[in-house]
Order: sequence, then structure tokens, then C-alpha cells
Amino acid sequence: MTSAERSVRVLASPEGLGELDIRDHLVVVVDVLRACTAIAHALDAGARGVIPVETVEEATELAARLGRGSAVLAGERGSLRIDGFDLGNSPGEFVPARVAQKTVVLTTSNGTRTFARAAKAKQCVAGAIVNRGAVIRRARAFERTVIVCAGDSGGFSYEDFLGAGLLVDAMVRDASAPVHLHDGARAAREVAAGIADLHQALRGTDHGRELEALGFGEDLALAAALDRFDRVPALRDGSLTAEEP
Ligand code: MLT
Repeated sequence: MTSAERSVRVLASPEGLGELDIRDHLVVVVDVLRACTAIAHALDAGARGVIPVETVEEATELAARLGRGSAVLAGERGSLRIDGFDLGNSPGEFVPARVAQKTVVLTTSNGTRTFARAAKAKQCVAGAIVNRGAVIRRARAFERTVIVCAGDSGGFSYEDFLGAGLLVDAMVRDASAPVHLHDGARAAREVAAGIADLHQALRGTDHGRELEALGFGEDLALAAALDRFDRVPALRDGSLTAEEP
């Protein structure tokens, strides 16, 4: 790889992120089911910002500090809305009537914790199938991109790896010069190339099956809507806000 060549890595879980010097990197956190899809919906519905936090306690305290008139408390544990919270983590819940002009404080099992691990990145954005094109347009400005799958408790999630592969493929097609794909990025791209129907692919994943069994089947259709949104949720001072790519 020459020094001017762009490169992209895919990490199958956030565990490896600490090993990399990401100070000049774009880090794309991918949690297709469902945090990053929900974040894109919340911002499209007019939320002022989405603050990703790690714990239920932290989320509750922050929402109280912001004032319940201006903050919406959202998130899940075990995929279900947390007791006392306004919203769960279903993308379809984040509609203007609930979130417009509000700050969403969001805590989820894997997705929101991954943002904390990317704190040292030059820039961090939330990526999903729904905003693939916008994210890769943002990546044009960076020589190095790391796509981090939120995964499942440190383990592998097929849907995040697939989402990462769609991003890698779009990045390669978009680039005017070769992009160096590290091994994880090559593998993710190959997985994505084998998928003809994104919705069906999500339905076949462990987490997709679990969500359908819990009655959240609609969330999978929303998560599979390729390029539905054209803005990028970018992390600034702890809050994700919608930016032009
Ligand atoms: C997570 O952060 O693990 C997910 O977004 C879980 C979910 O709500 O489906």
C-alpha cells in the first residue's frame, strides 16, 4: 500500500479498536439492528441530536439534567424498552411527534457503547444500510476509514458485517483511485456481494429472528431500506447530529 492510498478496515466487534491509532481516522460505527438505524430515523424526524450513552443510570440522569421537556429517554435491554423510558429502540418509534426539536438520550446493549470506544477518532459517524451512500460520501475526505461492527456482547453479528460490506463495496465503487481493503473489509465485501435481498438476509440473522419473535418484524424492513436517508449522523461533543455528507 502506498502512503497516499486510501484504506478501509472492518472490525467484526469493537474489541480490536483499542489496538489501533485512530487519531486521523474516520470511524464508522455500524449497528444495523437497530441502534444506528434508529439514530438515522430520529435525526430525520427532527431530533436536535442523539446522545449515545452506555448505561441505563447514566441515560436516566442525563435526561433528568437536560429536563424531561427537552429530552427523550430511549433505549433497550434484551431488545425491549427499558422500564420508565419514553421509547424503545425501534426505528419506527422515532417520529416527529415524539422527537422533533428534542434531544434523544439513547442507551442500547451494544451500539451506543461502541461510540465511547471511538472517542479518539478524528471523526466518528453512525452507519447503517439506510444511510450507506451518505456515509461513504463523508469517507471521501479521509485516507483511513475503520468500520466497526457493534456486534453482540463482543461477538459477531451477521447484520453488522453485512452492513459493513455494503459500505466497503460502495466506497470502492465511489473511489476514483484504488482503495486498499484490509482482510476484514475484503471479507465483508464478499459477504455483501452474495446477498440479493437485504430484508430476507436480516430475517435470517440471529438477532433478526429474535426481534421477529418479539413482534418487532417491522424493524427489519426499516433497517433494510437501502439509502433511505442522505445525511450523516456525526458525533460532535458527545452528541450525534445530522450533517450533509
Ligand atoms: C444493540 O445496541 O445491541 C441493538 O441496537 C439492540 C437492539 O435494540 O436490537
